Amino acid sequence: MRSAELDEFVERVNERTDIYSVVSRYVQLTQRNGRYWGRCPFHNEKTASFCVSADKGLFYCFGCGAGGNAFKFLSLIENISYFEAIKLQAQRLDIDLPTRKLSPEEERRRREEKDLFKINELAQDFYHESLIKTARGEVGRKYLEARGITAETIENFKLGFAPEEWDNLLTTLRRKGFSHQQIETVGLITKSKNSSGYYDRFRGRIMIPITDIFGHVVGFGGRVLEASDNDTPKYLNTSETPIFNKRNLLFGLDKSNRAISSAGKAIVVEGYMDAISLFSAGIKNVVASLGTAFTPEHAKLITRYTKKIIFCYDSDEAGQKATIRALPIVQAAGAEVFIIKVPDGKDPDEFIRKHGKEEFETLIKNAETMIDYRINYVVDHSDLSTISGKVRALHDILPVVANVDSEVLRNEYRKKISSALVMDEHDIASEWKNFSSKTRQENFREPEIKTVAIQRPILPDNDTTSQVRLACEDILRLSWHDTEALEYALKLVPREIFTEPHREIIKWYRTCAAEERRPDQMRAAEELSEAAYAELSRIFIDGFETPPETDLKVFDDAVNFLRLTMLKKKYKDLVVQAEKQASNDKETYNKTVEESLKIKKEIDKLQNNP
Ligand code: CTP
Ligand code: MN
Repeated sequence: MRSAELDEFVERVNERTDIYSVVSRYVQLTQRNGRYWGRCPFHNEKTASFCVSADKGLFYCFGCGAGGNAFKFLSLIENISYFEAIKLQAQRLDIDLPTRKLSPEEERRRREEKDLFKINELAQDFYHESLIKTARGEVGRKYLEARGITAETIENFKLGFAPEEWDNLLTTLRRKGFSHQQIETVGLITKSKNSSGYYDRFRGRIMIPITDIFGHVVGFGGRVLEASDNDTPKYLNTSETPIFNKRNLLFGLDKSNRAISSAGKAIVVEGYMDAISLFSAGIKNVVASLGTAFTPEHAKLITRYTKKIIFCYDSDEAGQKATIRALPIVQAAGAEVFIIKVPDGKDPDEFIRKHGKEEFETLIKNAETMIDYRINYVVDHSDLSTISGKVRALHDILPVVANVDSEVLRNEYRKKISSALVMDEHDIASEWKNFSSKTRQENFREPEIKTVAIQRPILPDNDTTSQVRLACEDILRLSWHDTEALEYALKLVPREIFTEPHREIIKWYRTCAAEERRPDQMRAAEELSEAAYAELSRIFIDGFETPPETDLKVFDDAVNFLRLTMLKKKYKDLVVQAEKQASNDKETYNKTVEESLKIKKEIDKLQNNP
């Protein structure tokens, strides 16, 4: 049972939620015939079959069958539960959550985690203070100044300095009441090898706090001031801890997510300093992947805010290799990918310091498409002096262009490849054709259907399949708030004619009636299975609008049509049965015929007087 308080909260969030603003944060929508259309974020598609009805508050994808209200949408796209989606939306609308009692176990874990965040936050303050206020922070200040990092940026990113001492941070944190074990858990201190003591892990480094999307400090990157010897790594980072996992963290995302949403694109760089530098130069839609390989989790974090990702990794070989590896991951996440190759300087940080914001914006505008980038990369990394080298290069390129649908684009790419590889266009065309037909055979798969496909019921006659379905839908649509109508229909129409999801919807209508509440979209989303709820959404979005005064007639027609269909089927069965009985069993034969005549009469009556 839900508390009244919780109900009221859900109602408040629901009231203030409009599905268009929820969805358009993730999907580009265009208006057509009073509805909004876009490319479905739940399956890969080229044409828009994803539909949002703002006045009904529902979405439905005619391609994959996903559907529901705004919270259902959020739960699917963020991969969270329905209730978490309501909470997320509440957060976005600045509506306070009702307080809930936690279990003792949850309570303990929550407290522990809070302590870890707190320790990191205190460490951040400690490093930051020693950078901006202390004499030993002078070297750090000089270093950052030389790199063109302003006081404002230092403040914004809460940059800091870890002094070249052994236990300064440790003592500070111990004094605040945290245990060695807690401080070690977040990776700020290390146990000495030959004594029982601990010492500060970060020393003599510029400290860069790393935050999660909620702004909690979860770890640090520490940069040496000068590359002194080869044994000292340039960066020392927090290793894996209960609150720090590089695979699903993007540096800067807590600060840049708004800019990413409003710019409609995210720029991904490799390094902390690149992100900091671009951000402070005014390019705010930027995140850094912390020097690890770009993961599907990273892709998912970004695609919450935009589907357009621009990679701007270092222009060295390592950076380019990392780009090539990231591309299929981003593509698999359904994002549109572009690549910036920094022309002058090793990385975006150097470039923007040298050339400024405007020129970097030009780079963004001229970012290469993934296909162009791939072609150029392959050309740069192949031996084109021999025919077989050229063919190998061509085969490296074909996978990225093979799926291009547009004839015009295909021609353009063929020309491009031809001039890049110095290869005859006809030869390219025939290799391409071979490649496409081969991969088509190998890879041909039905598009993935996310929700259970609507099962067709056992039907009397195949020709009437869709008519039966439409009639069933009319009945469900029109009995949404009319239990009496539903009961009337169910007396006349056998339950088997409805599909499985339809039957579930019917059962739910009846439950609502039994509990004396009106069916509503919020409860439907919570109480129906995903397949049934998506189907219900479709019925409301798709059901052709009939003027309310004809509702009764539409409903009656639907009931009669279904009755007629069932009776015809029964009649046909009886005729077949009778034929079989005719030669041996006179008595049952007579009975069957009698029954069939009764049904025939009913059919005639219905047909003459619908
Ligand atoms: N990195 C790391 N350890 C290293 C080197 C790099 O963890 N020894 C990670 C860091 O997250 C770094 C990223 O890889 O930010 C990219 O490396 P690099 O391009 O060298 O870093 P920058 O941020 O450009 O650093 P800087 O400009 O200060 O040299
Ligand atoms: Mn750099």
